[in-house]
Amino acid sequence: MTLNTKASSLFISAAALAAVAMAAIATPGAAADAPHIERQQWTFDGPMGQLDRAQLQRGFQVYQNVCSACHGLSRLSWRNLVQPGGPEFPEEAIKELAKSWPNKITDGPNDAGEMFERDALLSDRILGPYKNENAARAAQNGAYPLDLSLIARARNPEYHGSALGHAPHMLRDILTAYQAGGPDYIFGLLTGYKDVPSYVREANGHLKPVGPEGAAGKKVEQCVSVQHGEDGQPDVCTPLADGLNYNAAFPGHQIAMPPILGDGAVTYAKGADGNPVVPETLDQHARDVTAFLEWAADPHLNQRKATGWQALLFLLVTTVLLFLGKKRIWSRIEH
Ligand code: HEC
Repeated sequence: MTLNTKASSLFISAAALAAVAMAAIATPGAAADAPHIERQQWTFDGPMGQLDRAQLQRGFQVYQNVCSACHGLSRLSWRNLVQPGGPEFPEEAIKELAKSWPNKITDGPNDAGEMFERDALLSDRILGPYKNENAARAAQNGAYPLDLSLIARARNPEYHGSALGHAPHMLRDILTAYQAGGPDYIFGLLTGYKDVPSYVREANGHLKPVGPEGAAGKKVEQCVSVQHGEDGQPDVCTPLADGLNYNAAFPGHQIAMPPILGDGAVTYAKGADGNPVVPETLDQHARDVTAFLEWAADPHLNQRKATGWQALLFLLVTTVLLFLGKKRIWSRIEH
């Protein structure tokens, strides 16, 4: 065996070992109770998709009526709600809304050197109810209702498959231009409040989910997650902690945010026939506020995609012109 083949066979066996080790590490981690985030259809999907103005308006309404009780949107200014590519509300309406927003702007110092509070102007940020993180935690039982401006970019469903499947999974997302991980997660979260799953303990100590047939008189244990006992040990059930809520999409399944959004939480504008244009259901409210948060995190999405296509068209025309020019210049040269 030459040094070269020896080195390469060593490399191959090391790579194989690493792959096996990675698969071994990753597979048990793919716990049965890892959140599964369903993919949704969005108007802004893919390279051509655009945000829908009417949906952004409804989404802001959901934020205003429900989410703003706890969350701020401090990277957005009121004037952004008027600008093209967003909800495009009339300027006067937003001026009025900013003025009446309960969370006042701290300004100053005034002539006496004191800070003072004033109504928000179009140029001010959309503030949440809390002055700072400590105040928020003190009011929310220790949990932090974070600012939602960039949440659509800051979250993504976690991958829970085997290590070997990860690369093909990523490749598929790249080829299909999948970018809606954040929105899919937020929608999953808002619609993910369920009853805590019930289990019954089998004779060997394993916990089995209670199916539609019921527990058949056995003692039911409610667990947010189940840790499989190794080497004959019984499974360990983690019950829901006090003050937390079960959520199927949230990592760990215990969230401090209450299930605040439900059917009919927001009254939408009526169409010509006197009925709301879209149903006032949890599903629709969640979809609308998620689209709005996608816009908040990426306010130039519509313009960015339109410019991209214009640039491609421009390059295509340039390519044809360059090709014709080249043919013409070189046509006079004898072969
Ligand atoms: C009663 C207060 C309250 C309201 C109203 C509320 N939230 Fe929350 N939210 C919280 C708290 C508290 C947390 C932190 C949860 C935690 O860390 O367990 C949170 C966390 C979140 C998260 C982050 C979850 C994560 O992955 O970390 C998102 C997204 C979110 N809220 C969206 C919303 C939306 C959208 C609305 C409006 C439909 C809303 N919230 C209304 C209190 C609230």
